[in-house]
Amino acid sequence: MAPSAIETVPVYSDRDGQVLEQISDNVDAVNVLKANMKKEKALHEASEFDAEKNKTQFRQYEDAKESVKEFYREQHEKQTVAYNLKARNDFKFKTRAEMSIWEAMEKFNTLIDESDPDTDLSQIEHLIQTAEAMRRDGRPRWMQLTGLIHDLGKLLNFYGSEGQWDVVGDTFVVGCAFDLEANVCSESFKGNPDWGHEIYSTKHGIYTPGCGMDNVMISWGHDEYLYLVVKDQSTLPDEALAMIRYHSFYPWHKEGGYMDFMNEKDHAMLAAVRSFNPYDLYSKSDEVLSVEELKVSLSPLGFIL
Ligand SMILES: [Fe+2]
Ligand SMILES: [Fe+2]
Repeated sequence: MAPSAIETVPVYSDRDGQVLEQISDNVDAVNVLKANMKKEKALHEASEFDAEKNKTQFRQYEDAKESVKEFYREQHEKQTVAYNLKARNDFKFKTRAEMSIWEAMEKFNTLIDESDPDTDLSQIEHLIQTAEAMRRDGRPRWMQLTGLIHDLGKLLNFYGSEGQWDVVGDTFVVGCAFDLEANVCSESFKGNPDWGHEIYSTKHGIYTPGCGMDNVMISWGHDEYLYLVVKDQSTLPDEALAMIRYHSFYPWHKEGGYMDFMNEKDHAMLAAVRSFNPYDLYSKSDEVLSVEELKVSLSPLGFIL
């Protein structure tokens, strides 16, 4: 399956990197606000002080939601079963590129740096902060490594993505009814060609309840792409693969949608993803670490992306 040659890849403009990072940050912001709203809702029930805070959070959430609405409209309309099958086929048969993890991190960082020298926090810093927060908490080394690489699938931006909509954003299941409760901006699913499809629009669609998440097609993006890379090219445990594959699958790990498809293994995977999520969402405000100092220990690791 591994490609034998290094492909000449399309060069994207600097603006693409800026837009990708902005959309990715906005999507994260919405998920942070959603999480905070939930936490504070519980507090609200106990005091008026928290009711006041909750109102502020809600307004911020609405603003953030507005800014990502257009992104989700495109994502929800274009992530079809047909596109998913095509993307998976392309992944299998298209020649990609071989590089070390550090080269992959630097490649993505260069894109962002070129796009916006004033950017708050680069992707490479986000990866390091995620891993470092795990290290500080005494999480296992395999989990720290998972934190370090979890967003490298965003290199899809160089390798065959059609836009931002098939790289970032919350993910969901294709091939069954869109879960309007569990997904954000879900009204826009009505513009998807699979909406109203004879089979895909039924509750379980092409799947059987209890079939296991390994057997459902998650919408295409950086999670699924890196999962497929790492699954075949690492010895990371199933929990790590789940953290990578499902970290943007908020409709499942945060909202409780698509639970019918879970099998026994998936309950342990869900717990793993939930333990990963805070490090991804909340480490961005931590102290920025020296990239150069951390570089030495990472250089030997590599993947074919
Ligand atoms: Fe991500
Ligand atoms: Fe992330």
